Amino acid sequence: MAEMTGDRDYLEVRDLVKWFGDDRAVDGISFTVPRGDFLTLLGPSGCGKTTTLMSIAGLHAIDSGRIRVGDVVYTSPAEGLFLPPEKRDIGMVFQSYAIWPHMTVAQNVAYPLEIRKLARPEIDDRVADVLELVGLTDMADKLATQLSGGQQQRASLARAIVARPRLLLFDEPLSNLDLKLREQMRVELKRIQNEVGITSIYVTHDQSEALVMSDEIIVMSKGHIEQSGNPVQIYSSPTNGYVSNFIGVANLLKATVIEAGDDGFGKVELSVDGRIVTLDCRLGRGMERGSKAILSVRPENVHAEREQPDGPSVAGEVMQTIFLGSYVDCRIRWGSFEWKVLAHPRARLRRGEKVFLRFDAEHMLAVRP
Ligand SMILES: Nc1ncnc2c1ncn2[C@@H]1O[C@H](COP(=O)(O)OP(=O)(O)OP(=O)(O)O)[C@@H](O)[C@H]1O
Ligand SMILES: [Mg+2]
Repeated sequence: MAEMTGDRDYLEVRDLVKWFGDDRAVDGISFTVPRGDFLTLLGPSGCGKTTTLMSIAGLHAIDSGRIRVGDVVYTSPAEGLFLPPEKRDIGMVFQSYAIWPHMTVAQNVAYPLEIRKLARPEIDDRVADVLELVGLTDMADKLATQLSGGQQQRASLARAIVARPRLLLFDEPLSNLDLKLREQMRVELKRIQNEVGITSIYVTHDQSEALVMSDEIIVMSKGHIEQSGNPVQIYSSPTNGYVSNFIGVANLLKATVIEAGDDGFGKVELSVDGRIVTLDCRLGRGMERGSKAILSVRPENVHAEREQPDGPSVAGEVMQTIFLGSYVDCRIRWGSFEWKVLAHPRARLRRGEKVFLRFDAEHMLAVRP
């Protein structure tokens, strides 16, 4: 988190545009990152994440816009400014491990300090410190090729942070690791970033990775920003159907707003195969009476009950139950719509059973389609 004023917008990307031939890979995006924060660019393949990262690193010349870090302008075509990549003082970690196979771990990590011509004793001290931080002290004299995938990524991270750069850039660094290691490394990497406090931009298409690691998430599609916010905001208040669909699992239904209060709540009408139901819900930005909307409800916020509740409910039939230990993943049919519902194992829902679905207004959100 930023500590001093002026640190709130330590990194500023303004109106960034990058073309590849006829393809507008990045379409005028703007964002700022406070000093020391961890920002994630999240989105599907081809949405422009890597292009944005490479533009910050100076590995792409941008068509227009401006990128500034602290009081240094990295690039601004309109002002004729372009700082070469080696002068940007950036540490990078990629998907491919990119550590040099003919060098030991310690030599790999020492390299950025050697080009900065630090004195040998200081280099040795700092390499030892950073290897300890990433848990590779015992591997210092091993060749990079003798390391496992996870250890190679730790070595890459050590090399990226050892010179204490202004920025750290990560491009899907965990995607070559198996699931278990990936989950463990998320937490580890975030801990290390926290400890060194270097402002970081992290690229991934894995939404759970983004939710776990980030201070702030930018959800991208087709070269532009759909929404930015902290993980809780992105998960619980997506501003449109695209974001709710992309983040986590949600039931998404077409709806019409029939009542809009000024407290952020209202009523929507759903209609599926002639079955019409009116439900209370939260209203996203821009929703007013008559708006076409997408109603988004997370599976953990749908309550399936055997007795018909007093308030509005939806009658459905249990089509599938998958026991997952602490909860049961159910599919419940309502006409042609299948609700995804997470039920408690104690509810003992069975396939073929008729149930009533009940909802809480505060956990239903109507957003722009
Ligand atoms: N060097 C290049 N030459 C031509 N087109 C490119 C180049 N790099 C990227 N593109 C195009 O720009 C768009 C954005 O690509 P980018 O690599 O930034 O996506 P991404 O979000 O990182 O995707 P992924 O998750 O697959 O890595 C895509 O349409 C891609 O085809
Ligand atoms: Mg990419």
